[in-house]
Amino acid sequence: MKNTNIIPRDGALESPWQKEIALISHVASSLTGDYDCLIVGGGITGLTAALLLQKAGKQTIIADAHCIGFGTTGGTSAHINTFADTTYKEVESAFGEEGAQLFADAINEAFGLIRKNIDHHQIDCDYESKPGYLYAENGDEAKLLDDIYNGAIKVGVAAAYTSEVPTPVPFKKALLFHGQAQFHPLKYLTGLQKAYLAAGGVIRENTTVEKIKQKESLHISGDIRARAVIYATHTPPNINVFNFECAPYRSYVMGVKLRSGKYPDALIYDSQEPYHYVRTHNIDGEQLLLVGGLDHKTGHEDPEKAFAELEKYIRKYYHISDVKYRWSSQYYVPVDGLPYIGKMPMAADGIYCATGYNGNGMMLGSIAGQILADLAAGKQSPYEKLFDPGRIKPVDSFSEFVKENADVAYHFVADRFGLHKTDSLKRLEKGQGKLVEVNGKKIAAYRDQDGTIHALDPVCTHAACIVNWNSEEKSWDCPCHGARYDTSGNVLTGPATKSLAKINTESQP
Ligand code: FES
Repeated sequence: MKNTNIIPRDGALESPWQKEIALISHVASSLTGDYDCLIVGGGITGLTAALLLQKAGKQTIIADAHCIGFGTTGGTSAHINTFADTTYKEVESAFGEEGAQLFADAINEAFGLIRKNIDHHQIDCDYESKPGYLYAENGDEAKLLDDIYNGAIKVGVAAAYTSEVPTPVPFKKALLFHGQAQFHPLKYLTGLQKAYLAAGGVIRENTTVEKIKQKESLHISGDIRARAVIYATHTPPNINVFNFECAPYRSYVMGVKLRSGKYPDALIYDSQEPYHYVRTHNIDGEQLLLVGGLDHKTGHEDPEKAFAELEKYIRKYYHISDVKYRWSSQYYVPVDGLPYIGKMPMAADGIYCATGYNGNGMMLGSIAGQILADLAAGKQSPYEKLFDPGRIKPVDSFSEFVKENADVAYHFVADRFGLHKTDSLKRLEKGQGKLVEVNGKKIAAYRDQDGTIHALDPVCTHAACIVNWNSEEKSWDCPCHGARYDTSGNVLTGPATKSLAKINTESQP
């Protein structure tokens, strides 16, 4: 067991959560025999499920391809809300009144579970209760706000109209949601991790679970044998139905200091598409305003431009004295608005998964942990049917489904024509990555700060789309299903499990 000073994550930019914390790196291989459950992925979903199972007397193991907190949990903006990106009204129209009520119950239970974990395990994670404000800047947005209000009231979520919002942005109409919350996601994760290890849980880092073989009722990956498997990998690995039901998005966040020294004591959201949000956090004894937005599909837009636009937006409304942090993170938008949590479709019995949390990973990751722990322990869950990953999509969402998939299909073809033709790799500057075609050969090329060129085959190992360069996170991002690779071609995030092939450039000009 060793302590580390900084937690690595799936991008080159540092989130404020990585610095202040020393996660425990724990490798244990001393246990012999079969595990009750293998949990693949050590983010909020995996740790929540693993802790619940371990405490219920099941022997579990977490395998993470990198380390605990490496994925989106280390890059989230860590909001805890009683409402979600998919509004209760939208859930009602797609899944009926009962579905909307269950969705609200699930979110409420997730809220309670986080609170219970913090209290029970005495997790010091900067948890703070805050009022949440949602405002509209024009007539259309005001109408949307009315729908959000009516939908929330109907499922028993407290909301009220207000004329006071602690924002410099002029608004037309606003809602107040009392009792929202925020925390430090990696401090929370560390708390779960400590409790899990204390309960006898086992963690294997740097352990990729590529394929799972079946032998009678056992699931086998390498030397790990388990009676059940939970994929808590943000999106399950390899080719599966979710490649066509969830779209990967990047979201951008900046942590800035304000000249005034006055920070709003609230969680604030506008109603634009994509929306901006504002919250504060004290990092290293310094108060920061965290502002996020400018989301776009992974690999589809220029991340540099997204940060420039976000900074422009912040400067329009706030006097900034310093930009301390900027980072981006990934999330998956489900085609019908609800997450997929439960039995993995078209897989052997005893294999479970969760994906499609939209921008609500803290609550939905927590409730997913609860549901998956219940199912893996052979129990039932009241949310099993609503979030069933094998559900038939409601007709209403079909147009959206087609749109998401047409987009993917477009990139299967279009990216093959988006290459920069060049006769030489020599023009590549230090720190720059580019998709190039040299002498008819397609190369994903990056020149590091020492001047060495790292040349890779740009064909994504998941389903053969062409990856795009992310100049901010210094990664190769796939526009189809969101797999991401580092500059050496190693997988940062799935659904790919195999590295990009290296290309020998010695023969290239
Ligand atoms: Fe599916 Fe790249 S992530 S093809």
